[in-house]
Amino acid sequence: VAMATMESLIGLVNRIQRACTVLGDHGGEGSLWEALPSVAVVGGQSSGKSSVLESIVGRDFLPRGSGIVTRRPLVLQLHKMESGSEYAEFLHAPRRKYTDFAGVRKEIADETDRITGKSKQISNVPIHLSIYSPHVVNLTLIDLPGLTKVAVEGQPESIVTDIEDMVRSYVEKPNCIILAISPANQDIATSDAIKLAREVDPSGERTFGVVTKLDLMDKGTNALDVLEGRSYRLQHPWVGIVNRSQADINKNVDMIAARRKEQEYFANSPDYGHLAHKMGSEYLAKLLSKHLESAIRARIPSIVALINKTIDELEAELDRLGRPIGADGGAQLYTILEMCRAFDRIFKEHLDGGRPGGDR
Ligand code: GDP
Ligand code: NA
Ligand code: MG
Repeated sequence: VAMATMESLIGLVNRIQRACTVLGDHGGEGSLWEALPSVAVVGGQSSGKSSVLESIVGRDFLPRGSGIVTRRPLVLQLHKMESGSEYAEFLHAPRRKYTDFAGVRKEIADETDRITGKSKQISNVPIHLSIYSPHVVNLTLIDLPGLTKVAVEGQPESIVTDIEDMVRSYVEKPNCIILAISPANQDIATSDAIKLAREVDPSGERTFGVVTKLDLMDKGTNALDVLEGRSYRLQHPWVGIVNRSQADINKNVDMIAARRKEQEYFANSPDYGHLAHKMGSEYLAKLLSKHLESAIRARIPSIVALINKTIDELEAELDRLGRPIGADGGAQLYTILEMCRAFDRIFKEHLDGGRPGGDR
């Protein structure tokens, strides 16, 4: 029962975040959106951020590649469905349901270009995407442009600090869980991801260290000092990942094959074999989901307070509009109000009947 409740709780959090987004709440100070946890990826350009997110989702849908591919924040909400076939939907094109994930990737690229032009410019304006599927865990993930050290041809000099400021604006929020991505073929000590994560989360309580490109390390070297927490200690365990290489991408190696290859890599590795059960994308997804649950549980009291405030505001707004509601905006308000009430109920059940002597 507790698991089912937690599932529905996270599902509800997701739906409320989505509804808030539709109503124009994108996470301002003191907003409901901001009170709810999300997961953001941070790292240098081409460190494998988009690849890691794709593996967590288990679907191919993000533009990836060398150079600056991700040029706008992508706020990705995963909604677990009990059954049915999966589809994706963009906030900017609400009536269109994508069942073909190659189409999703193309639309992300096109929508990026619509704001930034085909240049290598970046934009703060997020793209909002929802994926509904029986095969995902309920999560909000945020893909961000990579931190960089120098501007390239066609970019303004300010791009280095512009990107850093944009990334910081997401990860400095106390409810943001940070996936700090460092490629194994570069020195972790100089990792931009770890530097920024340490700045906004000094205690490391909401930072997950992820090491990508383990397959690309020089022969005779390994990342055990990092993965076993000796190089840089975090509160959560480090997770090693092997994503698809550019050659794999060019050959259209699919996700299932890639995950199998990754698992085989760890299982057969003389260096990492003993850690195989705690490595890889699937393990990372489970770890995150578990952490998200406890993060939500810890925040139940403050979320309940915010929800009640939102209910009050919505009721006042509905009174002002006058019932019954015909207009579209009123119907939306009504829906979110209903959700808030359901949310409030489930949270309270969880608080009252919850877990005796539980883990709060
Ligand atoms: P991002 O710029 O941080 O989002 O990185 P991408 O996910 O776009 O990946 C950049 C490039 O690195 C792509 O060509 C990927 O195929 C490659 N790549 C990412 N992770 C790995 C990995 O674990 N191993 C190998 N061999 N290549 C990787
Ligand atoms: Na890239
Ligand atoms: Mg990317």
